[in-house]
Amino acid sequence: MKHWFRSGQTHAAVLKPRVWISPVIDARLLLEAGAGVGRVDIVTDPRRPVSAEQVAAVEAFVRRREAREPIGHILGRKGFWTLDFAVNADVLSPRPETELLVEVAVETLPKGWPARVLDLGVGSGAILLSVLSERPESTGVGIDASQAALTIARANAERLGFSDRATLRQGNWTDGLEGQFDLILSNPPYIPSTDIDGLEPEVAKWEPRLALDGGPDGLDPYRRIIADLPRLLAPAGAFAFEVGKGQAEAVQAFAEAQGLITSTPRLDLAGIPRVVAGKRAS
Ligand SMILES: C[S@@+](CC[C@H](N)C(=O)[O-])C[C@H]1O[C@@H](n2cnc3c(N)ncnc32)[C@H](O)[C@@H]1O
Repeated sequence: MKHWFRSGQTHAAVLKPRVWISPVIDARLLLEAGAGVGRVDIVTDPRRPVSAEQVAAVEAFVRRREAREPIGHILGRKGFWTLDFAVNADVLSPRPETELLVEVAVETLPKGWPARVLDLGVGSGAILLSVLSERPESTGVGIDASQAALTIARANAERLGFSDRATLRQGNWTDGLEGQFDLILSNPPYIPSTDIDGLEPEVAKWEPRLALDGGPDGLDPYRRIIADLPRLLAPAGAFAFEVGKGQAEAVQAFAEAQGLITSTPRLDLAGIPRVVAGKRAS
């Protein structure tokens, strides 16, 4: 990516030549954040002059993006579901496909039911807080092995107004968890260890390895978590997990081996089985 933003140029001149979609969106977001202006300002006054400080700020952002740092890390925030989450290099930037897990969770929880929700590997808090936003009577527990991730999750819970309903704790998956939950959710790390270095740099170089590495076949966290579901699921309890491409059948088999019932995996927008869900056998 060339340094295409110069002092004296207008926003319109900067934006016009970019024709491919993702770089255009990235450029617009970096321009808005670096120059401290909103989208409406750019549309309504595209020829406004930019100061040297604004140019310097945008160029610093562009240099970071050139190093393939994800846009969410540069901006320090990522939109997910209906909320805006603070993110940094300590947490996975929540992915659009993970919204399917939230959708399944919300469908599972009847309105007005004071459900107890558990999110294993809570990261930024994206899944748990989005579910709590849709179900105001529910409370949740979010677990993560990373203290740094929990700092972000707690800041998000506080800023978005969920501190009183979300308990965020450090832990190794289900170790030491007591009581039972009406809904257990997880988007655990599911990339096979040896595949990680071959991923695009935005992921391999910048996302926390702890958020990616699912062990030799990518399935270790599912084995570990699902083995404990019979203990942690309430009598009418349900579970839902995000899975990687090609992992749905194996994850269903782990659940069925524990005596749980699974439903047909839900497909993401690319047609990939992305969410494995189920419940206790009644
Ligand atoms: C793929 S990220 C998901 C983050 C977030 N839930 C989301 O969907 O955006 C997996 C998360 O699991 C956490 N994790 C990894 N190993 C763990 C363990 N042994 N116990 C608890 N959390 C763990 C990571 O720190 C990371 O935040």
